[in-house]
Amino acid sequence: MEKKYKRTLVTTALPYANGPVHIGHLAGVYVPADIYTRYLRLRGEDVIMVGGSDEHGVPITIKAQKEGVTPQDIVDRYHKIIKESMEGLGISFDVYSRTTSDIHRQTATEFFRTLYEKGEFVEKTSLQFYDEEADQWLADRYIIGTCPHCGNENAYGDQCEACGTSLNATDLINPHSAITGNVPVRKETKHWYMPLDKWEPRLRQWILEEHKEWKPNVYGQCKSWLDGGLQPRAVTRDLNWGIPVPIEGAEGKVLYVWFDAPIGYISNTKELLPDTWEKYWKDPESRIIHFIGKDNIVFHCLIFPAMLMAEGSYQLPVNVPANEFLNLEGKKISTSKNWAVWLNEYLEQFPGKEDVLRYVLTANAPEAKDNDFTWADFQARNNNELVAILGNFVNRAMVLTHKYFDGVIPAAGELTEVDRQAMAEFKDVKETLGQNIETFHFREALKDAMNLARIGNKYLADTEPWKLAKTDMARVETIMNLALQIAANLAIAFEPFLPFSARKLRSMLGMGDVQWDKLGDTDILAAGAKIEKPVLLFEKIDDSVVEAQVERLKKIERENILNNFTPKAVGAECGYDDFAKLDIRVGTVTACEKVKKADKLLKLTIDDGMKGRTIVSGIAKYYEPAELVGKQVCFIANFPVKKLKGVESQGMVLSAQDADGRLVVIGPHGAVRPGVGVS
Ligand code: MF3
Ligand code: ZN
Repeated sequence: MEKKYKRTLVTTALPYANGPVHIGHLAGVYVPADIYTRYLRLRGEDVIMVGGSDEHGVPITIKAQKEGVTPQDIVDRYHKIIKESMEGLGISFDVYSRTTSDIHRQTATEFFRTLYEKGEFVEKTSLQFYDEEADQWLADRYIIGTCPHCGNENAYGDQCEACGTSLNATDLINPHSAITGNVPVRKETKHWYMPLDKWEPRLRQWILEEHKEWKPNVYGQCKSWLDGGLQPRAVTRDLNWGIPVPIEGAEGKVLYVWFDAPIGYISNTKELLPDTWEKYWKDPESRIIHFIGKDNIVFHCLIFPAMLMAEGSYQLPVNVPANEFLNLEGKKISTSKNWAVWLNEYLEQFPGKEDVLRYVLTANAPEAKDNDFTWADFQARNNNELVAILGNFVNRAMVLTHKYFDGVIPAAGELTEVDRQAMAEFKDVKETLGQNIETFHFREALKDAMNLARIGNKYLADTEPWKLAKTDMARVETIMNLALQIAANLAIAFEPFLPFSARKLRSMLGMGDVQWDKLGDTDILAAGAKIEKPVLLFEKIDDSVVEAQVERLKKIERENILNNFTPKAVGAECGYDDFAKLDIRVGTVTACEKVKKADKLLKLTIDDGMKGRTIVSGIAKYYEPAELVGKQVCFIANFPVKKLKGVESQGMVLSAQDADGRLVVIGPHGAVRPGVGVS
């Protein structure tokens, strides 16, 4: 039997204020949290949704340093952008605050002090890197060195971005400071640790035994952390940006950002409800739900709960429906590489299309596995689903009502078999849709809502009121009544997902406030009332719009290639004798064609000043055959002859491979006689 709760606290991961929010944040956290919250509100439940900017931590100090401004400047800038753009997308926070607020500083300080006084921390001294010239401790991200796994010389102290391995700063070869470039010294420093090992048995029981219903991706990740054994984790840092550690002798130290940030949920609730906030956190009849992305699972399922257990007076979350990642056009979204669709830019470039983005991000949400956002899919879902199914039905129902009844809702007469069938089909939608939202299956829930519109379209297609208008007006009255009732149902069903369109629809139908309870009913609209003239809910998106977005991404990709390429280390010495063994010559391509059944290969016929030769080269992805004809290329003339896909290749054409793998053929910069040597 499912437990009934009196009230719900929905928390949303606090985005770092070192950049705007992007579609990955939205699909992973804010859109699903907003759907869930709007749904509960529509059911008349007591629910609040809290959030705010995460304004401490190293990502912020690094950004500030890069721009030569203060961390406060950075967080002021991005907090404003984030807050406004979330509002712009209709993410209906009851409070959106920030971790540099006074109330948060007080709350986090108090929390730390309580644990400290209860003796819940372990003090430990360890060796950390220190930059003597900058007079500063170096966080992992401030240490750069050579990756022991792949040799990338620009690996960070916590991760090598070239090969993706996570590292410890001490693993790096030739570590140096990102601030001064100096070789850092190692000095002893004292920190406070959460002994997670102490909480492991309770965490194990709580998650693995008592929360088997959590999403498999969340449960699985927790299980693997727990099975690996939990280690004590430092909750303080040597940094000059953050909340000071409130103990004597801890000068120059701040709370670790992952200690203070989740406490932000508490501070936000306090800020919203100064008198009653505690109910939401401490009453067992309240349920706390954390919406997060998968990289936050360990913090929300293990570390923060351990902090709450240690404090003693708080409830643990009832669920943590973490999502996987959304990629963009096949590549991981990255704030630092500008590989993202930024919400603030989207809102500027697509005014009035807030719901389109909400729709696409929900339909394609990375609920169970990583998913990909592509502009082609964005366009297709808009044109083929929002416009062609939902918008089309609503528009037809309204236009016909205006045509036959001057916009007055007709009364329904006796129902026929088709009517009853249509009604039977959507009777269950309230049940299934609600169930899907409550179990965090938002993609399915959205499909349920869309199905209603499909039923409406099918109903009009089956009954063909435009044909009956000449012969049986009474029948048309019934049909249009029912069609409008379906439209009214859509206004309710879509309110959690597409609040802007649902609102337009409500106002067009003269509906006023709606309740979830009404969903499935066929007497939502009163006969005799007038509806407004229809406005289109959605418009087609042209190819050119999408092409411009893809072009923008291609440009960023090119810039990233230019910016992020580090040439590989120079190889072992090679004298003239070794070089002279290579017989490199210039030839002119006289003919070129694709090699059958090989999508990578081109067959080049080359005038080599002798009897000519054929060379097969793996450049088919980068050149149209015709492009190469007439060009001069360099080739190795004494390369062993090889058969490739049945074609004999007599040499090797030289090409340069760009950082993205693209091949560019090498040739002389002025015309030379075919067959001359290169030296
Ligand atoms: N800023 C973190 C991130 O973007 C999330 C913080 S969530 C909170 O990954 F719990 F700490 F608030
Ligand atoms: Zn590496």
